[in-house]
Amino acid sequence: MRAAVIGCGRMGAFTSESMAKFAPRCWFPLSHAEAIRTHPDLELVALCDPNEESLKRAAQAYGVGNVYTDYRDLIEDAKPELIGIATRTQGRAGIIRCAAAGGVRAMHIEKPLCNSMHELQALTQTFENSDLYCSYGAIRRFFKIYQAARELAHSGKYGDLREIRVNMGEGMLYWTHPHSVDLILYFAGAQRAEAIQARLRNVVRGESPLEIASDPIIESASIYFEDGIAGHITRASGYAVILSCSGAEIAVENDGQNISISAPRGEDPYFCTSSYQGTYNTPQNEGTYAPISHLVGCLAGDGAQRSYNVELKADILRGQRILFAIVQSHLEQSRLVREQDIDPEIAIFAKTGEKFA
Ligand SMILES: NC(=O)c1ccc[n+]([C@@H]2O[C@H](COP(=O)([O-])OP(=O)(O)OC[C@H]3O[C@@H](n4cnc5c(N)ncnc54)[C@H](O)[C@@H]3O)[C@@H](O)[C@H]2O)c1
Repeated sequence: MRAAVIGCGRMGAFTSESMAKFAPRCWFPLSHAEAIRTHPDLELVALCDPNEESLKRAAQAYGVGNVYTDYRDLIEDAKPELIGIATRTQGRAGIIRCAAAGGVRAMHIEKPLCNSMHELQALTQTFENSDLYCSYGAIRRFFKIYQAARELAHSGKYGDLREIRVNMGEGMLYWTHPHSVDLILYFAGAQRAEAIQARLRNVVRGESPLEIASDPIIESASIYFEDGIAGHITRASGYAVILSCSGAEIAVENDGQNISISAPRGEDPYFCTSSYQGTYNTPQNEGTYAPISHLVGCLAGDGAQRSYNVELKADILRGQRILFAIVQSHLEQSRLVREQDIDPEIAIFAKTGEKFA
């Protein structure tokens, strides 16, 4: 299958040095180009970046001769079936819509999805095409270790899942927390959020009252689901996700390094913490390879993958809606906001220094 990458920066082609050095094994291969090149059913046929230096560097690194500075030319000439979109957020909605209209059938899209509710509405229509398969840069849900934790939390062995807490430090809404929101949606299971409540810092207004120019820091955000599960984004550090069940705490620690379980042992009512000893064999290739493999499965007609993709596309859209709801809640003195009540004029440009998220 013919594949291409649009945006040849760190996520597109050159994994950042600190990730390469320190991230747990489940994160690799991380760049879109590397993940595509690793897949036996994909051929990386074209690359695009308006920055000619980055484009040349990526073309040399991956041995790709077909290069473009305009994504529209790439879509028209190279006719890829699968693309990775690893640009910054601005303009991403336009790339997705253009690619879908140009016949691309599978896309791995970096997070966050888009900048405004208007763009999200347009993308919701694009995603309605059941012949279009999408995955998203919030990739932890594809890692075996997170899947194992989800199974444990929903197994019934530890009682009911009540709370999901995501500890990613003082992260920014657009840069860090699309991951947190996606984890909460993943662990809560495919369901609507009943209400969202948040408090932010560094909220710099843009030209209109509902336009946010900065990438705000989340001080706290909560997502309440219809079945009573609550997801909380905290300021605690550690890159951990803690699944609080009525009878235990299950934690995926250090960004996917290990699972610990705290539960009473024997007659002692106090929690005792131990490492999870079960297996969740991290495959040799996980990282961005995992969602891209899922897309290849969809293209190849795998029924289970296709039906999961329907759920995944709904979560990608819902996750983005929740980011807007988080802002709206903050702007309205942290009131509870329902998914269906988000103001259609909300936009977030998420600028930090000279760069946009
Ligand atoms: N999934 C993750 O864990 C993760 C980690 C870091 C960043 N990200 C996200 O990935 C995205 C990219 O981040 P990055 O760190 O790789 O950024 P980057 O600045 O290193 O790379 C972005 C590249 O896109 C190119 N570009 C911009 N507009 C383009 C266009 N219209 N067509 C083609 N190329 C274009 C730029 O020239 C640049 O080379 C961001 O939105 C970021 O939020 C995701």
